[in-house]
Amino acid sequence: MSFRIQPTPPARPNRCQLFGPGSRTALFAKMAASEADVINLDLEDSVAPSDKDTARANVIAATHEVDWGKKHLSVRINGLDTPFWYRDVVDLLEQASDRLDQIMIPKVGCAADLYAVDALVSAIEAAKGRKKRISFEVIIESAAGIAHVEEIASASPRLQAMSLGAADFAASMGMSTTGIGGTQENYYMLRGGGKYWSDPWHWAQSAIVAACRTHGILPVDGPFGDFSDDEGFRAQARRSATLGMVGKWAIHPKQVALANEVFTPSEEAVLEAREILEAMEAAKARGEGATVYKGRLVDIASIKQAEVIVRQSEMIAG
Ligand code: COA
Ligand code: MG
Repeated sequence: MSFRIQPTPPARPNRCQLFGPGSRTALFAKMAASEADVINLDLEDSVAPSDKDTARANVIAATHEVDWGKKHLSVRINGLDTPFWYRDVVDLLEQASDRLDQIMIPKVGCAADLYAVDALVSAIEAAKGRKKRISFEVIIESAAGIAHVEEIASASPRLQAMSLGAADFAASMGMSTTGIGGTQENYYMLRGGGKYWSDPWHWAQSAIVAACRTHGILPVDGPFGDFSDDEGFRAQARRSATLGMVGKWAIHPKQVALANEVFTPSEEAVLEAREILEAMEAAKARGEGATVYKGRLVDIASIKQAEVIVRQSEMIAG
């Protein structure tokens, strides 16, 4: 129990985050023309060490030259365990245009990781007189990250979103898989001679959602590597949406429409939510806290559930 009101997360759509390597400038205009809500220009693992300096310069130029429309523009910097990250932050904050919205910090392991980046960003913003305050997003993709997920979610007022990075997470946890997200063949239960697949990402996702919701951060599902498998992507995304996540990464443009489809509440879902709200209004007028909708119980908690769907749909429409 708590008398504290749960904070609301940033009111912007985050259904799909489209990634592209900072070294592949030919993709930038295509990314800008996509239907993704968030663009992540990458300086980290999709860029070879020999290309880091060029990619950084490309990304800075792209903040000045490419028309990113209304997209939330984020750059993934290198991890704090590399020799590259400080130069990423310094050059971005000193040279990128005000079009830059956000920095994504990968492989965070504790609250102090955000404190370190925040200190550097704050000093450069002040020194350069930058008017727009850069926000942060982080990737939980290590054992330390998930062990400290709650302190990370509360570590910086700049933090807006948190993603699960399945591949690095699996490696750090020592999981025996090489797939990036999705069904894992060896994670099953037996019943009556049949195999039933369970979801090895479930607990990490739930921990991230709980930490995010406690602190008003957007919980996001990370990459699904097999971009030839649309149904696999949909199934993973639907599980994430069911657990409370608001969106998913696309590591190939064909995944953008799939993510938007899953994370945009359907017309039927919105209609049903509105009908539940109306049914509860009518119940309230009768002095009742609970009533029946389509043969099932709805009560005051149902109002909050329905409002999640209606709010999400209104925010996307607006
Ligand atoms: N954003 C926008 N457009 C993209 C794109 C992206 N990330 N990746 C590919 N495209 C474009 C291609 O340029 C091509 O365009 P065209 O039809 O005009 O020629 C079209 O989409 C089809 O591309 P395809 O040939 O299927 O892919 P590819 O072999 O060029 O690239 C990947 C495949 C996976 C290497 C590439 O999509 C990629 O780099 N993805 C992001 C990886 C990343 O950032 N990872 C870090 C986060 S995990
Ligand atoms: Mg990673």
